[in-house]
Amino acid sequence: MSIGFCDIIHMVMNMSNKYNWAVLGCGNIANDFACEMNKMGGKVYSVANRTYEKAVNFAQKYNVEKVYENIDDIFTDNNVDVVYIATPHNKHIEYILKSLENGKHVLCEKAITLNSDELNKAVELADENNLILAEAMTIYNMPLYTELEKIINSGKLGKLRLAQVNFGSFKEYDMTNRFFNMDLAGGALLDIGVYALSCVRMFMTECPDNIQSQVKFAETGADEQSNIILKNSKEELASVTLSLHAKQPKRATICYDKGYIEIFEYPRADKATIYYTEDNRTEEITAGKLEDALCYEIKNMENAIENGKNTMRLQYTIDVMNIMTELRKQWNMKYPEEK
Ligand SMILES: NC(=O)c1ccc[n+]([C@@H]2O[C@H](COP(=O)([O-])OP(=O)(O)OC[C@H]3O[C@@H](n4cnc5c(N)ncnc54)[C@H](OP(=O)(O)O)[C@@H]3O)[C@@H](O)[C@H]2O)c1
Repeated sequence: MSIGFCDIIHMVMNMSNKYNWAVLGCGNIANDFACEMNKMGGKVYSVANRTYEKAVNFAQKYNVEKVYENIDDIFTDNNVDVVYIATPHNKHIEYILKSLENGKHVLCEKAITLNSDELNKAVELADENNLILAEAMTIYNMPLYTELEKIINSGKLGKLRLAQVNFGSFKEYDMTNRFFNMDLAGGALLDIGVYALSCVRMFMTECPDNIQSQVKFAETGADEQSNIILKNSKEELASVTLSLHAKQPKRATICYDKGYIEIFEYPRADKATIYYTEDNRTEEITAGKLEDALCYEIKNMENAIENGKNTMRLQYTIDVMNIMTELRKQWNMKYPEEK
């Protein structure tokens, strides 16, 4: 029997029985995560959720060994190696700290925390305890970006000049849903802006220190739309346009001396086009597969744990959180937890 390319990829990815993963939360993304884990031939070891019955159903659906009645039981289970946190952003810091205090590695959904103070505390604790802390940011793990990095580092595109990155979703003006709800850490910046800014940070050769913006708030006080302009000390510029009430293409255009890179659906992309301006040539770059986005995260996290080295681009997470914290300071926008 011949072995296909996809079989080989899945065999390479099949590392998920090495560590006992506990999943905290049973919503949309937690379901995707468990499904991907099963696809890789592994399984989630344990699960906990605010609503216990949902955790029981989740365990049945994904063949999970253990269900806890209380979320805190995750942290005291000696068999758990790594906790995947998939609750709303304002609950992340509590669970991150409890995991790290109890010797567990952490992969936490985006946005990893509400602000830089929270993240700094978590990073310090992870360092003290020699644990891997990472944000589940698909952009940092998709193979496409590794391929693009190689091309950029070869110098054939010249220097980076500017980046333009959009993200817009149309959400109904239902002020009770999480997108506009300040009690659930709503707003475009933490929900979708984190993708756009992570994309920008990946390409900028230095963290931007000049941060300017315009914002429009929803009735609830959550940021509904914004334009963000960034510059770093190398004079690289970036502009980011976000909206929770107007659909936009998720497009990243990264412009260099000798051409530009265009990526559609950049949060989970497997292809990009490079336009070379000197000879009007175009080049299609493809790497990885969209549908394996979470597999790459799991695999990279397991590699980082195995090697005892945080290779999960945590510094980019820190830089992006600093930018978002500065923007909300400019906007005088505070979540209830911050008052
Ligand atoms: N990486 C990605 O592609 C991606 C995609 C979507 C979302 N996310 C991120 O993942 C996180 C979850 O998003 P989601 O779309 O999966 O949300 P969701 O479907 O609404 O699920 C939220 C989960 O969190 C639990 N929860 C809600 N409030 C809680 C509280 N106060 N205390 C403890 N648990 C609570 C819910 O428990 P109940 O069952 O009791 O309600 C549910 O299990 C967010 O941070 C989001 O930004 C990432």
